[in-house]
Amino acid sequence: HPSNSQMGESSMLKRSECRAKGGAPGFKVAILGAAGGIGQPLAMLMKINPLVSVLHLYDVVNAHGVTADISHMDTGAVVRGFLGQPQLESALTGMDLVIIPAGVPRKPGMTRDDLFNINAGIVRTLCQGIAKCCPNAIVNLISNPVNSTVPIAAEVFKKAGTYDPKRLLGVTTLDVVRANTFVAEVLGLDPREVNVPVVGGHSGVTILPLLSQVKPPCTFTPEETEYLTNRIQNGGTEVVEAKAGTGSATLSMAYAAVKFADACLRGLRGDAGVVECSFVESQVTDLPFFATKVRLGRKGAEEVYQLGPLNEYERVGLEKAKKELAGSIQKGINFIKK
Ligand code: NAI
Repeated sequence: HPSNSQMGESSMLKRSECRAKGGAPGFKVAILGAAGGIGQPLAMLMKINPLVSVLHLYDVVNAHGVTADISHMDTGAVVRGFLGQPQLESALTGMDLVIIPAGVPRKPGMTRDDLFNINAGIVRTLCQGIAKCCPNAIVNLISNPVNSTVPIAAEVFKKAGTYDPKRLLGVTTLDVVRANTFVAEVLGLDPREVNVPVVGGHSGVTILPLLSQVKPPCTFTPEETEYLTNRIQNGGTEVVEAKAGTGSATLSMAYAAVKFADACLRGLRGDAGVVECSFVESQVTDLPFFATKVRLGRKGAEEVYQLGPLNEYERVGLEKAKKELAGSIQKGINFIKK
């Protein structure tokens, strides 16, 4: 016979399950890789988000530990944990938004492309699960190299017949967050007042901040432009080196992931004028994928914005970015096709 306390706990669990099933207002969100350096603070912040009614935490290790911990927070979302491949389908079924920070991060001396061999396979498996269990969910892909993992995900969804480019979004928000911070520092402004569009991709020279389009309008000397562009492009490496072998950006990334996920959820709710930068299927350049501002709505990235006017420095940067991006995109496509 179960003890009283066990019975108490199971009947309470049933009530919270009822609350979840009864359609508490809000969206159902899954985090894949929820026990990781990004996953844990991301799970914590999503548990606080009032737009989330159900939060599924999936990982191949420690998912139940993180779930037990987060579930004690007295916020609205009902949290459930899922451990290992056999529970992937249950983790995904019914989800409106799936956020993927699963995979290995960089160590000093590594490029994001060095992660390809491990992370490509992880992203493929997870996206096969999405195609099967929640083909209509919006996908926020964080796992690096984003320039290749987004094309991988697209190919997996195409194969499964579920691909909708509007619902597949590579997360480049951290580049924007960094750009806002560094530009605000140079201008002596509060970063909350600054908005820097960052286009291209999410790695080295493919990260292209458009300093000529900063809001509020401002100008930079050639030295400032050079300093800011380099610092924004190498912001990730700055953190990798400071962490000295223990990982890459996790806390600022979790913040950025929530900023982006929240924008996606506001779009799903039907809010007007929700605009963020994201790496998506695109006709803005001759490349099949490119990061620009997109408008988020009920169907995902409903509108992909053009680049707008570029100055000479940015036009040169764009050509460099496109060259590297073309190879990374093709590498991702080949991984599934060949
Ligand atoms: P981490 O190693 O701390 O966590 C990764 C988690 O993924 C671990 O808990 C691991 O068990 C889990 N995992 C591994 N294989 C899995 C599978 N098959 N299914 C589900 N979960 C699995 O790494 P961290 O620091 O959280 O970084 C995660 C990824 O995010 C890396 O690829 C990193 O490069 C990327 N990243 C992306 C950024 C962006 O701006 N898009 C910024 C920073 C990191």
